[in-house]
Amino acid sequence: IVMDFKHPDGVTVPVMLPRRSLLVMTGESRYLWTHGITPRKFDTVQASKGHKSGIITGDVGDLTLSKRGIRTSFTFRKVRQTPCDCSYPLVCDSQMKEPPPSFPESDKEASQLEQKYVHQVYEEIAGHFSSTRHTPWPHIVEFLKALPSGSLVADVGCGNGKYLGINKELYMVGCDRSQNLVDICRERQFQAFVCDALAVPVRSGSCDACISIAVIHHFATAERRMAALEELARLLRPGGKALIYVWAMEQEYKKKKSKYLRENRTSQGRQEINSDPSAQEQFVEPVPDTGHQDSACSVPSINDFQKGRCNSKEVANCKLPIHTNRTSFHSQDLLVPWHLKGNASKEKPTEPFGPAGTHDPGPVFHRYYHVFCEGELEAACQTLNNVSILQSYYDQGNWCVILQKV
Ligand SMILES: C[S@@+](CC[C@H](N)C(=O)[O-])C[C@H]1O[C@@H](n2cnc3c(N)ncnc32)[C@H](O)[C@@H]1O
Repeated sequence: IVMDFKHPDGVTVPVMLPRRSLLVMTGESRYLWTHGITPRKFDTVQASKGHKSGIITGDVGDLTLSKRGIRTSFTFRKVRQTPCDCSYPLVCDSQMKEPPPSFPESDKEASQLEQKYVHQVYEEIAGHFSSTRHTPWPHIVEFLKALPSGSLVADVGCGNGKYLGINKELYMVGCDRSQNLVDICRERQFQAFVCDALAVPVRSGSCDACISIAVIHHFATAERRMAALEELARLLRPGGKALIYVWAMEQEYKKKKSKYLRENRTSQGRQEINSDPSAQEQFVEPVPDTGHQDSACSVPSINDFQKGRCNSKEVANCKLPIHTNRTSFHSQDLLVPWHLKGNASKEKPTEPFGPAGTHDPGPVFHRYYHVFCEGELEAACQTLNNVSILQSYYDQGNWCVILQKV
């Protein structure tokens, strides 16, 4: 039978467990990786004999199907009598220092949540985050390239400045809450300054265009997300346009999985495991990943108020679920783990794999997200004054809107 091992990063490795075999899990395979057996009638296995490691490779020329029969397996566990002191405190239930935060119930709580689970995190991960953000998305490039030359454009929540140099004919200025990310923009010779997207120190009506890419989903209440949209609209001159992207709850749209889900593959890029954790066969071991799948527990959104869509529940005192990377979302409000590679926040990351193939898990940070349901961003934009919606679309797991100030 083939068992899938999954790293918290999302990398999945299928391993063949032959009949009459004994598998001893120690070290990181025991504590850091989760494992499970996906229900199916056939397994894809190596055709040639003599694969000692059992890892199924992506070599399509050497794969064949093996029909599953009746499986009898025994699991032996060592019961610990003392507190756990394993070397994986970040994924160890008993060593977890703090419980996850609750849903915010006031503006003050929301702002504190964002401070700890958004701003502090970006500050810590800035260097590593920046090293993973180099490819501009085509529709955003298209929007920027279509603007008349000489346009003044604000990129609110500009991150490492990925979009600031796309069209040299524009005057682009970036702003972000993270000093470390703004420093990276400046090192790259871009104009950027530190500010909050709720209070951008730029005169009203002075921008020909604005972009806000993957920022508004970091605000923890519907009112704060609305205020961030109002701030973008305030910056625009009449006729000016804003392009807004937020992460979508729907990571599978029109029967197509987003890149985010599609990258849940083996390191060889061959097999894709079921993205719905509920459809997995029982896990032989409890999932050490987080202890909590992101369960359907959600705060009411603008969309709930206006359209009665999206799952809306009473959530007082409800803890924010921790998302399992590269799986579907089961809650609109959640914490998404970031596995830091490299030593310091501003340094370039070192190789993720240490000597002799050991894997240094590195610290894990959690970022707060509100993932938007279909229609939610559009509905929020419709309530803005003096703004019309030019376009609304889905792009690779994101809901996107282009606004125009009237
Ligand atoms: C997912 S990143 C996107 C960065 C960039 N727009 C891109 O597309 O690569 C989110 C960015 O929003 C910034 N951010 C989050 N909350 C913010 C706020 N309240 N004000 C300004 N920036 C914020 C973060 O510091 C981070 O740089």
